[in-house]
Amino acid sequence: MTQNSPPVCDYEGSDYQKSFWDEGGRAYEDKAEEIALKRLLPENGKLLLEIGAGAGRNTPRYKGYDRIVLLDYSRTQLQQAQERLGKSDRYIYIAADAYKLPFVDGLFDGATMIRTLHHMKDAPLAIRQVRRILQPSAKFILEYANKLNLKAILRYVLGKQEWSPFTPEQVEFVDLNFDFHPKTIRKWLKENNLKLARQLTVSHFRIAIIKRVFPASFLAKMDGLAQLTGDWWQLTPSVFTLSEAVGETPIAADGAFFQCPQCNHAPLIEEPEMLICANCNAKYTIRNGIYDFREPIA
Ligand SMILES: C[S@@+](CC[C@H](N)C(=O)[O-])C[C@H]1O[C@@H](n2cnc3c(N)ncnc32)[C@H](O)[C@@H]1O
Repeated sequence: MTQNSPPVCDYEGSDYQKSFWDEGGRAYEDKAEEIALKRLLPENGKLLLEIGAGAGRNTPRYKGYDRIVLLDYSRTQLQQAQERLGKSDRYIYIAADAYKLPFVDGLFDGATMIRTLHHMKDAPLAIRQVRRILQPSAKFILEYANKLNLKAILRYVLGKQEWSPFTPEQVEFVDLNFDFHPKTIRKWLKENNLKLARQLTVSHFRIAIIKRVFPASFLAKMDGLAQLTGDWWQLTPSVFTLSEAVGETPIAADGAFFQCPQCNHAPLIEEPEMLICANCNAKYTIRNGIYDFREPIA
């Protein structure tokens, strides 16, 4: 865990991709997310930051971008992503904390955060970091877990759930797993100069019996249609948002890329297996194609 930062839900050593996606009966949710992403992604872009990239499940979907930076706190998730996507100039693998992004201001023209905000105890801080590294007009696709979903409403009304889905604060239903209210997410985006352009509601049919009866591809198609109501109401467990970075912010200078997550100094001195901060002397390893900003080495 990084010092002076909120706690991190650590996926180090986790078999999340295999147990949750590959063998976890979530083909429908995966396809529904693919449809949502296709709708929200711009046709092309230069440099995309995927925050909480995990094992790179969504990365191949970012087809229009020239280069993609996969950032995750877990090194083992990034190793799995590397096995899936391979080592190439198109992908840059970075182990770092989303609360302390190791990049200069105004570097990216796109960012995504899918199924990751729900691990953020201090979500506004994470959103502030995202806005800092975006150029003006950059696109940000944020997925969040919605506390105002139909199942939660029903359980609350029937007295089977203590917390109210209607109130604005986030709910921690399991340690470091949070559901958010759509109004609160919209407020945080606005406060951080991220202008909401579109909302898609996703996973309308995340109900065990429906998933058992209907094929995943059929449910995903139906979900694709229902997603289009997302700007009117948000009652699904998952919501995808597209925002645009607004406000007067600088664009990163040519060649500028990393900054020290400890002291914010840039540029860093790049050696074959290490990055060094000339200001605070922190050293960060580059091992097997993964930049590691989690903790500086002594
Ligand atoms: C539920 S997984 C989602 C992975 C991927 N986005 C997907 O949808 O398949 C959440 C990911 O967020 C990462 N994560 C959680 N907190 C983080 C933080 N503070 N900084 C960077 N990554 C974080 C975890 O390591 C994990 O890989």
